[in-house]
Amino acid sequence: MNSSADLSKNLKSLIQNFKIVLDQASSLQELEDARVDFLGRKGRLASIMSCLPELSKDDRPALGRLANEVKDALNDLYSEKTRFLEEQKQQLSMASFDPTFPGRAPDVGSLHPVTKVINDICAIFIRLGFDVVTGPEVETDFYNFEALNLPPGHPARDMQDTLYISENVVLRTHTSPLQVRTMLKRKPPVAAIAPGKVYRRDSDLTHTPMFHQIEGFLVDTDVNMADLRGTLTAFAHEIFDPGVKVRFRPSFFPFTEPSAEVDISCVMCNGSGKAKDGSTCRICKETGWVEILGCGMIDPEVFAKVDYDPERYTGFAFGLGVERVAMLKYGIGDLRMFFENDLRFLKQFA
Ligand code: DAH
Repeated sequence: MNSSADLSKNLKSLIQNFKIVLDQASSLQELEDARVDFLGRKGRLASIMSCLPELSKDDRPALGRLANEVKDALNDLYSEKTRFLEEQKQQLSMASFDPTFPGRAPDVGSLHPVTKVINDICAIFIRLGFDVVTGPEVETDFYNFEALNLPPGHPARDMQDTLYISENVVLRTHTSPLQVRTMLKRKPPVAAIAPGKVYRRDSDLTHTPMFHQIEGFLVDTDVNMADLRGTLTAFAHEIFDPGVKVRFRPSFFPFTEPSAEVDISCVMCNGSGKAKDGSTCRICKETGWVEILGCGMIDPEVFAKVDYDPERYTGFAFGLGVERVAMLKYGIGDLRMFFENDLRFLKQFA
């Protein structure tokens, strides 16, 4: 049998003992063990409380009050120690931070090779005094065809397999509409380039339904074929290599007269037509030349559509495929690489 005095003594000694145990607890786990031992459902406090019914009715209330006070005191001690250990844990984790440990490098993105080439080409022409203009990818028949001297039923429309939105609205098949849009807005002298996406109904190893072009044109008094030659030769030397040879081959486009295609000496075999091992160069097919763009003197029919006086003004225009230039510049053999977004490929341009 426990007397009231015994139980009260035991209760009070709980506080002292709990302090001793807490002093020794050095981890949150040890602290938890101590809490269970003293304050748990089968712990020391509970076991003393279970003796209360043994007391006389008169002694019980006082002892009950004491038990509650002790319980509060134990809980306070427990909270205080918890706070202390948590702070310590945080400080320890900071102390174990090794500032000499090499960091994890963040993944840094890079420009897509097509974007890079567009930027490079634009930079060259900006230096030559050209403005950069842009226009809609969804284009009307008028800008994409008619104003460029491709009237309805013109056989040259068959040159391009077009994606039609409706009878009179197309996904632009080239950037040439920007000639018309810009000339309608400005009076000569005007020199501009227009980079952007174009769309054709074409998809195989060497064609994708979407690709990029850059259109360029210049209109002023006394512009002639020599200006065109000089400008495009300077451009080819800048974008590829000052050593490349440039040649102009007669060609046909409805919006230029005369028209030409421009070839450069093959960048893979240096114009020899032979690969290093003596086999046929696969890029130029042994010819030593690769085509890079189409160009010509702007047809007076186009000037008529934009109200430029063909007696007063002349101009040249050109259009080039960005992916094609990028493939030649970086020696990329497969067009599809540009659109697969394989990081192993893209990272090489970082
Ligand atoms: N628009 C032509 C095409 O997509 C390229 C072109 C050729 C543009 C000659 C021109 C040019 O401005 O003069 O095939």
